[in-house]
Amino acid sequence: MAEAQTLRVRMVEGLTQRGELDEPWRAAFTEVARHVFVPELVWDQDRGCAGDCDLVPLRRAEDPQRWLELAYANAFIATQVDDGHPSGAEGRGFEVTSSASMPAVMAQMLTALQVEPGMRVLEIGTGTGYNAALLAHRLGAANVVSVEIDPTVAEHARAALAAAGYGALRVVTGDGAQGYLPGAPYDRVICTAAAAEVPYAWVAQTRPGGRVLTPWGTAYYPGGLVELTVGPDGTATGGIVGPASFMWLRAQRIPRYTISRIIRPADTAIVSSTDVHPWRVAGEVNAATAIGLRVHDCESFYHAEDSATGTLYLVDQRNRSWATLHLTPQPPYEIRQSGHRKLWDEVKAAYQWWIDAGEPAVDTWRFTITPSSQRIEYCRA
Ligand SMILES: C[S@@+](CC[C@H](N)C(=O)[O-])C[C@H]1O[C@@H](n2cnc3c(N)ncnc32)[C@H](O)[C@@H]1O
Repeated sequence: MAEAQTLRVRMVEGLTQRGELDEPWRAAFTEVARHVFVPELVWDQDRGCAGDCDLVPLRRAEDPQRWLELAYANAFIATQVDDGHPSGAEGRGFEVTSSASMPAVMAQMLTALQVEPGMRVLEIGTGTGYNAALLAHRLGAANVVSVEIDPTVAEHARAALAAAGYGALRVVTGDGAQGYLPGAPYDRVICTAAAAEVPYAWVAQTRPGGRVLTPWGTAYYPGGLVELTVGPDGTATGGIVGPASFMWLRAQRIPRYTISRIIRPADTAIVSSTDVHPWRVAGEVNAATAIGLRVHDCESFYHAEDSATGTLYLVDQRNRSWATLHLTPQPPYEIRQSGHRKLWDEVKAAYQWWIDAGEPAVDTWRFTITPSSQRIEYCRA
């Protein structure tokens, strides 16, 4: 497939030119064919469909050119929706439940993993198997174990790994939150799904001095890559080393919902106003991380109408509390709050805490994982 080869070379050149791919991993990205791992059926955004049913099937046989371009774009590819049972109208998908991660993000995580020849790695979230293959290219297939919770996804990855020459890599079907004890101890654990709570099994199955790398987040702001070093006492410590936005580990998923199910125009919302721009509380990574750590079970997302207007939604699904901030070209911006929790008041108070603390950056949060708890503490510089 000469065209696949050309697209792959172009993808690697792009990653290299943007400084996203370090030397030790360039050979792996150059020699492992990504399209071998991409299923025949993938899911594409339907820009014409507002809101709920925004993923449409794209079959390789129907549009081989677009399928191949997707396979070598520097973008994530949705490879499964709704746990394999598309729940939208006319066979559309609602929620992405497995994907091939964005190549630049994979390169960033693999670099952060700091592997050396001979190391043994446990990967959680096999997905397509492409990341496992990159690890196998560098470390040898026998030194990599990967756990995937979805049996169909795991089966596809096994077949793709075998086709790519990495059939010796063990893909385990199971809950990766338990790690994979028969293969322990590992030098590195890498998770390619997000954890709000880092499972202790990953720490317990890593040798002292080894590392655990996982996307981490809060309901409010799912966006940090956490690196932990395992100590001789069996606890792990570390912090946020970069951005990362991944789907959640299955048991830690926050159910997706439609705004109209939670926010009802007939609600008697309390109306007030603020001068705080929504980007300051929900877009700025340092503030949003701090707010998410102080305001629990509150999701946030911003819907832009155009560059100057839009709505920030704050939602606690459990008790149907919500707040909205409506951005207009000039402040003040209207606030509406409804339900048991006054979510805007909570977010505003947490934002004020962050300002008063001197606007701490994400790397000032120290993570400690013990057998019984996950502590995330603010460490004043
Ligand atoms: C972003 S995809 C992984 C991308 C993948 N590493 C690749 O190279 O294509 C996340 C995967 O994690 C899997 N997953 C979610 N929760 C899991 C769990 N508890 N244990 C194992 N796999 C899990 C999902 O089914 C999904 O396939």
